[in-house]
Amino acid sequence: MQIGLERAGAAAVDTEALVILGFLEQVPEPVRDLGEFSGKALEITLLHRPAGFRAKRLLVIGGGKQADFTSGDLRKAAGAAVRALKAKSVKHIAMALDTGFSSPDYVAAAVEGAILGDYEPDCHKSQKEGKRPVESFTVLTAAEDAEAGIARGRILGAAQNLTRELVNEPGNLLTPMVLAARAQTMAAAQGLECEVLDRDRMKQLGMGALLGVAMGSAEPPAFIVIRYRPNDLAGANGPHLGLVGKGVTFDTGGVSIKQSDGMEKMKYDMAGGAAMIGAMQAIAQVKPSIAVTALIPAVENMCGGRSQRPGDIVTSLSGKTIEVLNTDAEGRLILADALTYAKRLGCTHLIDAATLTGAIVVALGHVNAGAFANDDALLSKLLGAARAEGEKMWRMPLDEEYMDQLKSAFADLPNIGTRWGGAATAAMFLKQFAGDTPWVHLDIAGTAWLDEEKPHLAKGPSGVGVRTFVSLAANW
Ligand code: BES
Ligand code: ZN
Ligand code: ZN
Repeated sequence: MQIGLERAGAAAVDTEALVILGFLEQVPEPVRDLGEFSGKALEITLLHRPAGFRAKRLLVIGGGKQADFTSGDLRKAAGAAVRALKAKSVKHIAMALDTGFSSPDYVAAAVEGAILGDYEPDCHKSQKEGKRPVESFTVLTAAEDAEAGIARGRILGAAQNLTRELVNEPGNLLTPMVLAARAQTMAAAQGLECEVLDRDRMKQLGMGALLGVAMGSAEPPAFIVIRYRPNDLAGANGPHLGLVGKGVTFDTGGVSIKQSDGMEKMKYDMAGGAAMIGAMQAIAQVKPSIAVTALIPAVENMCGGRSQRPGDIVTSLSGKTIEVLNTDAEGRLILADALTYAKRLGCTHLIDAATLTGAIVVALGHVNAGAFANDDALLSKLLGAARAEGEKMWRMPLDEEYMDQLKSAFADLPNIGTRWGGAATAAMFLKQFAGDTPWVHLDIAGTAWLDEEKPHLAKGPSGVGVRTFVSLAANW
């Protein structure tokens, strides 16, 4: 999708479809009384050949109460407008932003929303079912500093769509090695350093927890490391952010096999890793002043003659031994080694994102990601970034009492607790490997995938996390 900027007034623009915002308090009473359009959020009305406009169509999208209208609301409005128009095969769209809503933040949100709204998870369909991409989206504004917003919106939109594209790929087409190759392609294009550790290197290092998960798969594992370094020297000696993402390219559960019903969705079990790859693409362009390293342990969790067994004891990179009581609790095993390795690489602050537990979906549904932390300062930074970016995250508890469930008679730790508090015991397990390093764990099992399409987003991968991680690094 081509993104453009025009200084012309809305009425003068010759386009297939002009989008304007309609707020609750602007809608004349007779119109509201007709029930045609009230101005509530994301409500749409479409007029053809509107009088006084050169545009062929005028789409009015509801913005709700004008005083409460945030850039996050604009992101959704732009996305919903694009999706409504692409369903009618409109190829060229212009959106007018009034002076109140034309700061770079709003311009960026409109562009980002349009790019996100245009995405469809249909790259493997021969017939696109009338959902072909929009060719151009033009922002109409008189604001002097709009270019900066356009650039930022484009970077963030593209980064999230890269993440969504990766998450959407099925397990046969996106194996650990393919994910690594995709990361390398992105890094090369952005001038980032990308290193991929292979199985031999991981053996040498002693990543026994990760390698145990990889045993059952014919696909070799890959440990992906992507480095961003700021140009100035101050940044080089300052804090170093580690972004660790779960990269299970498919999760069958292993010998503790999952039920077949719905198992196809487990191609999304690398959504945390994909979020880090997308975030790094944007970080390379936004150029924050903090060093950032992404670490993505990529494996396939399969059942077969070489799979690890329940009861197996593995030695993690940290030296801690783990009794694998359930092979389906594989995410925490690969993240254990990744967190340890991130500390070895000098990361001073750790964020991990993982589709880790079904229990977090029970607790928070598909609305909030669960945030677990050993450090209040880092957590509040992260939650601040999430709030600013409109990504919902909710703090979850991490009391020492949860450790009572993580006792093994035969090894230092079991990889599962009891039936209760499953998201917290998973986080508690990870905490043993984060140690004293400030760390936040995000369980995104409920938020990385949309089971239903939204007005502003297609069904499928949501790209959750990308905006927050980029914003966290940019505003550090
Ligand atoms: N990838 C899953 C998490 C998951 C499960 C996401 C269901 C979405 C829906 C993870 O590897 C897993 O299987 N976790 C187990 C842990 C259990 C064995 C302690 C789970 O949540 O069932
Ligand atoms: Zn699993
Ligand atoms: Zn999993």
